[in-house]
Amino acid sequence: MKVALYPGTFDPITNGHLDIVERALKMFDRVIITVARNTSKAPLFTADERLSLIRDALNHNDRVEVEFFDGLLVDFARKRNVSAIVRGLRAVSDFEYEFQMALMNRKLDEAVETVFLMPNEKYTYLNSSIIREIARFGGDVSDFVPPAVQEALTRKSNKG
Ligand code: COA
Repeated sequence: MKVALYPGTFDPITNGHLDIVERALKMFDRVIITVARNTSKAPLFTADERLSLIRDALNHNDRVEVEFFDGLLVDFARKRNVSAIVRGLRAVSDFEYEFQMALMNRKLDEAVETVFLMPNEKYTYLNSSIIREIARFGGDVSDFVPPAVQEALTRKSNKG
């Protein structure tokens, strides 16, 4: 059984992330989406909120698991015996950071492979920060995120 681990902050999940999950499901039997900690980010949504938005967006697909993990990604990958870590590459600007992470993960655990997938080009300019910013100022993000994420962003913006 081939299992992929798709890690990220997912603050919040976007259609671009979902595009990567769909592509990964064509190559792997199962995908574990891991909400992990990027120590340089202070997320808008709590871990529980992010997990529930992801589960909702995937319509509780039984080939996808969604979990929070606070630790080194390679430890989680080893524990769950995954075949590969999946990351999306949207543009050349992603490359340096992704290359560094992939090589560092490999240094930490020789057995961990990273596979890069390219999302549909209509998502190449998307990231979660830009979505949060547009939503915060009342802009329309419906083309970029699932409906439940849009509602959650509106609720957060109304809270101040
Ligand atoms: N579509 C749309 N946006 C995408 C995307 C896609 N396909 N792929 C990435 N992005 C965006 C994300 O929304 C995010 O946007 P933001 O910076 O505005 O929030 C950005 O691109 C990249 O973030 P993301 O994919 O969420 O990853 P990350 O860089 O925050 O996550 C971790 C990095 C969590 C995987 C990494 O820090 C980690 O592994 N942490 C665990 C600790 C560890 O092992 N550290 C050592 C790593 S070598």
